[in-house]
Amino acid sequence: MEILVVGTGAREHALARTLSLDPAVTRVHAAPGNPGIAQRATLHAVDPLDGAAVADLARSLGVGLVVVGPEAPLVAGVADAVRAAGIPVFGPSAQAARLEGSKAFAKEVMAAAGVPTAAARVATTLDEVAAALDEFGAPHVVKEDGLAAGKGVVVTDDRDAALAHAGACLAKEGGRVVVEEYLDGPEVSLFVLCDGTDVVPLVPAQDFKRALDGDQGANTGGMGAYSPLPWAPEGLVDEVVETVARPTVAEMARRGTPFIGVLYCGLALTSRGVRVVEFNARFGDPETQVVLARLASPLAGVLLAAAQGRLAQVEPLHWRADAAVTVVVASHGYPGQVRTGDPITGLDAAGTVPGVHVLHAGTAVRTTEDDPENPLNDPLLVSDGGRVLSVVGVGETLAAARRAAYVAVDQVNLAGSHHRTDIALAVSEGTEVQA
Ligand code: AMP
Ligand code: GLY
Repeated sequence: MEILVVGTGAREHALARTLSLDPAVTRVHAAPGNPGIAQRATLHAVDPLDGAAVADLARSLGVGLVVVGPEAPLVAGVADAVRAAGIPVFGPSAQAARLEGSKAFAKEVMAAAGVPTAAARVATTLDEVAAALDEFGAPHVVKEDGLAAGKGVVVTDDRDAALAHAGACLAKEGGRVVVEEYLDGPEVSLFVLCDGTDVVPLVPAQDFKRALDGDQGANTGGMGAYSPLPWAPEGLVDEVVETVARPTVAEMARRGTPFIGVLYCGLALTSRGVRVVEFNARFGDPETQVVLARLASPLAGVLLAAAQGRLAQVEPLHWRADAAVTVVVASHGYPGQVRTGDPITGLDAAGTVPGVHVLHAGTAVRTTEDDPENPLNDPLLVSDGGRVLSVVGVGETLAAARRAAYVAVDQVNLAGSHHRTDIALAVSEGTEVQA
């Protein structure tokens, strides 16, 4: 089977890599992909947000499955266009992707399905925001309703800062915000494959969302991740499947908008029990990089089964006992104004560290003529986005996986780049749970 992966990030690189290692897959294609994905897949310069173009490409390639990575194409209806063309697609419809695209919608579905989550109020005026802030008290949690690449959420003790963020969100056209009760406790990401009716969970991972060591700095898309979570309570996955994933999938089916794809359950393990912090309608980035690094079963068949409503028939997934840690190398300025175009070197050395593979996110190949620094006009790998690389280390323990990842990160040269130095540190020392 040939498969088309839609997207450009390290998550899509991880998907393309894992699919290309599946003996049932004869060829992987990517639209548009990136220079790292090009080592595993044939790239096609197609706009990932253009459903008709993606469906045409899938048809002309004769692929047996399309896997849509990022949220923006899903919310734009790319999966609908591919499905309408009669091609199996792993990814929810635009209607179902609203579980991620609108936090207010997600709250409504969770309420209808009885899924445990933070109490919340949807607000369209600053007065409503102020009332909700006072109702819940500090710390304040204010979320932009729409897609914001992980940057629409402010958690703060400062009421004025919470109001200011809400004001900025409300100033946008159709602006709405969700004000929530604060959830304490460590966070877990659990991806659940869904076929509209049945569900198959993957293994939990933990993401590090803040830009700086010690969970300081701004929220980002994610600066690193690890799996497994030795501190997670036994039975967590089963509990989330029964209390979160199944009721949500049933509610979406009841509404006539079945959910097919990955239900990303972002959870807080609070003193009062498991609560959903957020849903996403896709694989998480960078958690996918560590989850797939641990998957021992072939991936293509299970994604196809989900796309075709056959998850009940798939064999249970097998997982390696190994641990995986990924560290994101980000551009100068990320998550603010990022600088791009800086040369990246050292990837060959990084990739030869035992247990390591390097996944590309925001990279590009530059072939500039008449560059005095590059007289032979060799193709030059340069940064081309906020998160540039995801360096994955696999080892027998989290400590070994982490060591491998950081040895490799030290081989990478990218001017002005930054990365966190404490990904999976506390857990690998067994000292504390990462919140
Ligand atoms: P979201 O985009 O909803 O995942 O929020 C991004 C991050 O903000 C989460 O991963 C949490 O770290 C934090 N966050 C979101 N909602 C809450 C909440 N109700 N209580 C505490 N932290 C939250
Ligand atoms: N790692 C967080 C996300 O993918 O949204």
